[in-house]
Order: sequence, then C-alpha cells, then structure tokens
Amino acid sequence: MEQGNITIDSTTKQNSPKLDLDRAIQCALATIDSNLVTFADTFPNDTTVNNIYYPRPARGNFAEGSNYEWTTSFWTGMLWLAYELTGSAKYRQAAERHILSFAERIEQKIDVDTHDLGFLYSLACVAPWRLTGDEQARGAALLAANQLMTRYHEKAGIIQAWGDLNDPAQRGRTIVDSLLNMPLLYWASEMTGDSRFATAAYHHAMQVHTHMIRPDNTTYHTFYWDTESGEPLYGRTAQGYADDSCWARGQAWSIYGFLLNYRYTRDATFLETARKTADYYLANLPEDHVAYWDLVFKEGSQEERDSSAAAIAVCGLLEMVQWLPDGPERQRYETAARKMLTSLAQNYAACDPAASNALLLHSVYDKNTNRGVDEGTLWGDYFYLEALVRTRHQNWQLYW
Ligand code: GLY
Repeated sequence: MEQGNITIDSTTKQNSPKLDLDRAIQCALATIDSNLVTFADTFPNDTTVNNIYYPRPARGNFAEGSNYEWTTSFWTGMLWLAYELTGSAKYRQAAERHILSFAERIEQKIDVDTHDLGFLYSLACVAPWRLTGDEQARGAALLAANQLMTRYHEKAGIIQAWGDLNDPAQRGRTIVDSLLNMPLLYWASEMTGDSRFATAAYHHAMQVHTHMIRPDNTTYHTFYWDTESGEPLYGRTAQGYADDSCWARGQAWSIYGFLLNYRYTRDATFLETARKTADYYLANLPEDHVAYWDLVFKEGSQEERDSSAAAIAVCGLLEMVQWLPDGPERQRYETAARKMLTSLAQNYAACDPAASNALLLHSVYDKNTNRGVDEGTLWGDYFYLEALVRTRHQNWQLYW
C-alpha cells in the first residue's frame, strides 16, 4: 500500500500504529490559520513559552515581532508549505509579504553575521523563487549567498558559524547545523554559473565530514579550526550534554544535512555519512521513537525529549530513501521514518490552537541555558510540516 512516498507493507502495518495523515495535516493547517491572524506581518519568537508563541520581543533597534535572529524563515516556510498543500492564496500572500522583509534585511545587512543565512534565505526566498519565479526573492537570496561567502575561511575550508569574523571566541568555529546552510550556496552557483559558491560549500561539508563525525558515527556539535594554518583543532559542545556526548538535534542535522549536500554534489561520501549517523540515531531511540535532547539519555530517562530533532530526522530519512535502491535497507529507513512521524503526530502534535499555537510540542532549544525547554520551536514545527508534505506529495520539490 502506498501512503505518499512511504510504502507500508501489510506486515509492518499490522505491527505498528497507522499515521492519520489527513488529520495531522488538518491539525497543522488549523494552527497555521490561527497564527496567520496573530502573526500576519510579524514574526513569532524562536520557541513557545508554556506552549504559546508570542511575537519576537523588542531588542535594541528591533521592534517587537521584527525579523532578526535565525528562526524567522521557518514561519515563512510553513506558509509556503501550507500554500502547496491547499493552493490557498492567503498563505502565499502572507509569505510574499515576508520577501520584502527578508530583502530589506539583507540589503541593509541587518543581523547577518551568521551562517544561518542559509536557513533564512532558502526558506524565505529560494522557496518563492522556485514556486512562483519571484525575482525580488531570487535577488535577495543571491545577496545572502554572497554575504555567506564572506564567512568562508579559505585555508581551513570552512564557513564560520557564529558572530564577528574577528571574535577570538568564534573565529574558525563551525557547527554541525551548518550543513543545512550549504544548499543556498549550491543554488547560487546554479543561478549564476559561478562555481565559487558550490566549491566553498563542498569543502565545508567535507571538513565537517572529516573532523566532526567521530569514529563511532556520533557528531560534535561545534568544532574549531586554526584559520591561519588551516589545522583542525578540537570539538566542543554548546547545546549538548557534554563535549563528548551526542546532541540529538546535531545528529539529526547531520542526517538531513549530509543528504542535502549529497543531493547537490552526488559525492557518495555524504550519502554514506548520512546513513552512518542515521544508524547511530536510530539505535539510540527510546520506545516511542522520539529522542531525548541528547542521545546519551536512554529509555526511562527523566530528561526531556527533543521532538524537533525527530522532525528533522524524519525529513532526512525520507530524503535518504529517494537515493537508495529498492531493498531491505531502504525499507528499514522508510519504516523508521514512518514510525517516528506517526509517534510525532499521535503523541507530540498539538491540535487545539486555543491551548497551543505550536504544531509540535516537547522540543528543547538549549537545556544548558534553560532556553525553550519542553516547548514548541519554529524549526520543529517547520520540519514536522515538511515531513507531512513529503509524505503527502511524492516528488515534492525541496526548498533547500
Ligand atoms: N541551529 C541551532 C539549533 O539547532 O539550535
């Protein structure tokens, strides 16, 4: 039996609960509809507080609800996904207004000292370019790709993740999440014919593969390079439990991120690394298939789950099955994705906008700083909806 691009055979179907895809999508759309009223022209904050999103707080020169930090485009991305699911102009119109905000942000270089330009501009501007051919979106995304290139340290072959390029605490540091920022560069090479973008992205992804994946296929969250000599230095966590533990979301970023790099380069190393990191992730899940916030925690732990990591991992696994030949291995990843998505829909998704305006509950932003612990997150919501869209529409064209 076919359900979107997840094949469910009769044996696995009997042994596991069924994903009610229609209901999951209806719940998500109801919440988005409600948020469309609250956040018509403003951006929600990164995470909920007691399961409710409020507008991004005023900070410095930023007015309440304005477009700063790394997560705003996940709201825009959800609007594009809702538009694709329904064809309704209300989502498209709202998302198109965001293009103006993102164009202004990059033209005026507002809060752009970050590698997260990839997350921001793939969803807010490459998506509309792909869906509607919007030229302003294309131009803004190319400006963002150029800005991202200023963070490339040639000698080390890496793109610096955070902060000012001359900040000694951040210079030469990258993080595993960066893999999702590389598609903007590959896309820029496709658009312009200038291979510099894709070359930088490829070197960066290869450095992440070589130095940030440990021999047991776990990931460092962050890693430093000496930008003068190019030498790799050491790994450190920021949001994981310990420097030598495996932050669950980092592992999920690795699964999906290497697949996206594989999609553009067809370098088999990336597909293989995605598989290895997926195998570690899947081998360290509790019974309900949704990881604790660090994979060091096992079944029965009192620690919080990170449902956002699960949503990212599902997207990664669904991408992986597109690239594997038919057979038991492909089936294993499909089944794992289905179980994880089913658990998210049944046990973690919200379906009452009055009680929560998040799509997905029980994520962790940063346990170490007690930020967004056991809350909804914009990225968790986005990737959950992307997973539902991927399941509904075979051959969904990626925004990444
Ligand atoms: N990219 C930041 C995070 O995953 O929290």
